[in-house]
Amino acid sequence: MHADPVPKPLLATLKGQRQPIPPIWLMRQAGRYLPEYRALREEKGGFLALALDSHAAAEITLQPIRRFGMDGAILFSDILIVPMALGQDLWFETGEGPRLAPTVQARDVLEALQDAPEALEPVYGTVRRVAALLPPQTSFLGFAGSPWTVATYMIAGQGSREQAEARRLAYRDPALMQALIDRIADCTITYLLGQIAAGVEAVQLFDSWSGSLSPAQFEQWVIAPTARIVAALHAGAPGVPVIGFPKGAGGKLPAYACETGVDAIGVDETVDPVWAHASLPAGMPVQGNLDPLALIAGGATLDNAVDHILAAFAERPHVFNLGHGILPDTPIAHVERLLARVRRTG
Ligand code: CP3
Repeated sequence: MHADPVPKPLLATLKGQRQPIPPIWLMRQAGRYLPEYRALREEKGGFLALALDSHAAAEITLQPIRRFGMDGAILFSDILIVPMALGQDLWFETGEGPRLAPTVQARDVLEALQDAPEALEPVYGTVRRVAALLPPQTSFLGFAGSPWTVATYMIAGQGSREQAEARRLAYRDPALMQALIDRIADCTITYLLGQIAAGVEAVQLFDSWSGSLSPAQFEQWVIAPTARIVAALHAGAPGVPVIGFPKGAGGKLPAYACETGVDAIGVDETVDPVWAHASLPAGMPVQGNLDPLALIAGGATLDNAVDHILAAFAERPHVFNLGHGILPDTPIAHVERLLARVRRTG
C-alpha cells in the first residue's frame, strides 16, 4: 500500500478545487529583491548566464520556496528563450533590458532564422533538478510567453513603447504576422510539452502586452493563437492546468476566459476583483491581483488591499498573486507580512 500523496493546494486550486486558505506564489518571486539572488547573479556574471546554467537556475527557483514557503515554485528562465530557440541572438544590456537580432520585419528574415532547439535543453535540465528537490506540498509551474508578446520583442528587437512596431506590422502585413505567430506558437507547444515531460505540473502563458491591441486584433493575435496552444497542451498533456495571463486585457478578460480554453486566468492590478468575480465564468480559478506597489507600500494599505481581494474571490477557486511581477525594491518584510495575512498567521 502506498501512502496518500501529500496534497498540493496550488495544483488543486488550478484544477478547480477552492482551498480554505488560498495558495500563494508571486510572479518574479525569484529575482532581484532577494539578496541571495543578487549574490548568485554577481558570481555568475549576469541574468542569461544564470538562466542557462541548470544548477544555478534550479537554485534560484528554490530560493523563494526556502525563504517563504511559497505554494508554487516557478521555473527560473525567461520568455525570450523561445526567440533564441528560433534562431535570434539574445543578450541583456545591463540596466536596460533584453536585445534580440536580427529583428523580424520581413519574410526573408523570418525564413532565414534557423531553429535552434538545443537552446531549450538547459531549461529542461533545470526542471528535472527542481522536480527532484521540491518539497512535496509545493506545486511546480513552467511558463512561456504568449506568441503576441514574444513577437513584440522579436519585431522591435527590445521592449517597445505601446508595441507600436509589432502593431504596425500586423496591419501592414498580416500574412507575415500570422507566419511569425504560428512559428512562435509551434515552438511554444514543443517547449511547454518539454517542460511538462521534465516535471512541471502546470504552466502559465504570460501575455504581458495583450493590453495594447484593439478588440479585433486581440481576437486574432491573442485569443486565436492562445486557443491553439491550449488545445495542443490539453491533447499532449491531459490534466495539466494552463493559466492564461493576458495583462492589460481589461474588458476583454471574459472573452479570453471563454474562448481560449485556459483552465485558470490571471488578472492584473488594474482590474476590479469584484467585477472580475462577477464577469468571469463561475468556478473558473482566478489568480491575482495585488498591486506590486501596494506590496511596497506595506502596512495597513497592504492589509486592506489583501483583504479586499480575498473577499472578492471568496466564492471561487483563488490563487493569491500579484497583478504583475514583484519589483526589485520590495522589502522582504512586506512579503512576509503578505504571506501571514493571506495564511491568517499574522
Ligand atoms: O517569475 C519568475 O520568478 C520566473 C522567471 C521569469 C523571469 N522573466 C526572470 C527574469 C519570468 C516568468 C519572466 C517573464 C518575462 N520576461 C516577461 C513576462 C512577464 C512580465 O514581467 O511582463 C517578460 C516581458 C520578459 C522579458 C524580460 N526579461 C525583460 C523585459 C527583462 C528586463 C526587465 C527587467 O525586469 O529587468 C527581463 C529580465 C529578467 N527576467 C529578470 C528576471 C529575474 C531580471 C534580470 C536581472 O537583471 O537580474
